[in-house]
Amino acid sequence: MGRIPDDKIQEIRDRTDIVEVISSYLPLKHSGANHQGLCPFHQEKSPSFNVNSTRQIFHCFGCGVGGNVFSFLMRMEGVSFPEAVKRMGERVGIEVEEEAVSPEELRQREARERLVRINEVANDFYHQVLLEGDGAVAGRRYLRQRGYEGETVRSYQLGFAPEGWDALATHLAQKGFSTEDVRQTGLVRPGKQGRGDYDLFRNRLLFPIHDLQGRVVAFGGRVLDDSLPKYINSPETTVYHKSEIFYGLYQARDAMRHSGEALVVEGYFDVLALHRAGFAGAVATCGTALTAEHARLLKRYAEKILLIFDEDAAGRKATFRAMDALLSVGLAVSVVGLPVGEDPDSLVKARGEAGFRECLDAARPVLEVFIEDQLRVQDDSVEGRARAAEQVLERIRRLPGDLERSLYTKRLAELTGFDVELLQGKSRGGSAVAPVRRAAARPVADPKPPAIETGQAQKYLLRLMMVDDQQRQRVREEGLAGLFFNEENRGLAEYLLGCEDEDGRLPDDLFSPHLSETQQSLLSGLTLGEDLGWADNPEKIFTDCRRAVSHYVLKRRLKEIGALEIEAKSNNDEDTLMQYLRERTEINQKLKKKL
Ligand code: UTP
Ligand code: MN
Repeated sequence: MGRIPDDKIQEIRDRTDIVEVISSYLPLKHSGANHQGLCPFHQEKSPSFNVNSTRQIFHCFGCGVGGNVFSFLMRMEGVSFPEAVKRMGERVGIEVEEEAVSPEELRQREARERLVRINEVANDFYHQVLLEGDGAVAGRRYLRQRGYEGETVRSYQLGFAPEGWDALATHLAQKGFSTEDVRQTGLVRPGKQGRGDYDLFRNRLLFPIHDLQGRVVAFGGRVLDDSLPKYINSPETTVYHKSEIFYGLYQARDAMRHSGEALVVEGYFDVLALHRAGFAGAVATCGTALTAEHARLLKRYAEKILLIFDEDAAGRKATFRAMDALLSVGLAVSVVGLPVGEDPDSLVKARGEAGFRECLDAARPVLEVFIEDQLRVQDDSVEGRARAAEQVLERIRRLPGDLERSLYTKRLAELTGFDVELLQGKSRGGSAVAPVRRAAARPVADPKPPAIETGQAQKYLLRLMMVDDQQRQRVREEGLAGLFFNEENRGLAEYLLGCEDEDGRLPDDLFSPHLSETQQSLLSGLTLGEDLGWADNPEKIFTDCRRAVSHYVLKRRLKEIGALEIEAKSNNDEDTLMQYLRERTEINQKLKKKL
């Protein structure tokens, strides 16, 4: 999208009320300028989500997210910044024109809009056919037999592609769409040898696939009998990327956000069945494996993922592939086993909501299932078990928490018979008995950032920079590098310095789309006075920050020296070794004296 002029953004923000906007998503209770509610971005029982009408910002003191009305919309609706501005503009009646869109970009955007439009018109057509078309008698009968009628058909806008070869092509032509545009959707294909274009979907039940804005961008279509292929799907287009879309996510995301859980299933019917039975956080990939993009998308709405795939070889393969994508982005993953031969749709039909709930309750962490599976597929020789262990360790290393890593390593030791300490060493990333030279060659990991108080000092300093023009000048003179060790903090400080007008003052509104999400949250927390136990002694804040940075730098050097010493030792280089030893001693003294 092109740039929206700053004064336009300003104007829209001035006319919107964040309290009113957020109230349309969740109930808020107010006391003075402050409004509180249950945070929509994490699960909580008592409200720590604050909306401030004076400042026009929000901040959750539970999970730490915050920002202005645009940041809220971006998170809540999963839209881009320009899109958020546009929507707010519509709400208050300000039209947004963007500047500096290249003709090429404009052309592409218009082409995408036409694609969506054609999909929407096609969807209306197919839906109408299913509801009352003469050609859809078999389709209606099929749905009725599977137990889906009225309500589901309407809310998921199911459709039916009639028999014959060009029902849609003709309809779209009548609506005035160009042949070229229509072909771009993949819903209609060019006929061979002088014949007219023909429809992709014929005599199939259709599931429209929505993007996150609720627009139809593709379809999945099922035959009514046992013929093959059972399902066909729209091809990839500029508005439909299979690896970035879930069937049902548009309908499921609120439920996901509230429970923090997503259910990933295989089929379109499974999604319908689960939503109807009250498991509203269910989604399916559209006939593809779950990708890294899928994982990142889910992470916006949920922390925990329940995978429900078929109990066969293909299903297991899909499960572990999904596991790799999901663990990599830090999601917790469990596997739900269903009785052999059942899928969620058939199970809910046979055993009802309670039957399915039982299966959910028996979900097991995916790694446990993976360990068992690896031990089964490898032979029982030492080599076989070693191969299994390596496979599992590769996944354990990706787990975010120490405790989790240790727990699974123990379990792996139990099941393989390998020594737990050996496995523990391997589960931390490096090999415990790595040769000396390799250890030196490995890049040195940064030390842990200093303890919480020093982090606090940097927050105090940022806060000081926000409220005190003089102290901000002092920070400028001292230089940021000597005061902030962490990139987000330093970035925010730099940003604050850049915000000053000619008189060295800060504007009232500090939020900018150029800040990262973390920085926006940091800023809203600082503005709304996250309970820092506010220290009003600038001198002390400055010295604490300086010390934090130099400690950090010294500790990092110590780590480096460690690696360099090993190298010097293996080269029998006594002189260099002595030099490092001296430096180490000096650093340790400095650290001890706290400077
Ligand atoms: P399944 O074959 O397990 O079917 O495919 P299902 O979802 O249980 O369908 P019903 O209940 O028999 O109607 C699972 C999913 O895999 C994709 C579809 O997304 C389907 O929902 N699929 C399957 C295809 O894309 N093409 C196919 O030929 C089959
Ligand atoms: Mn099924």
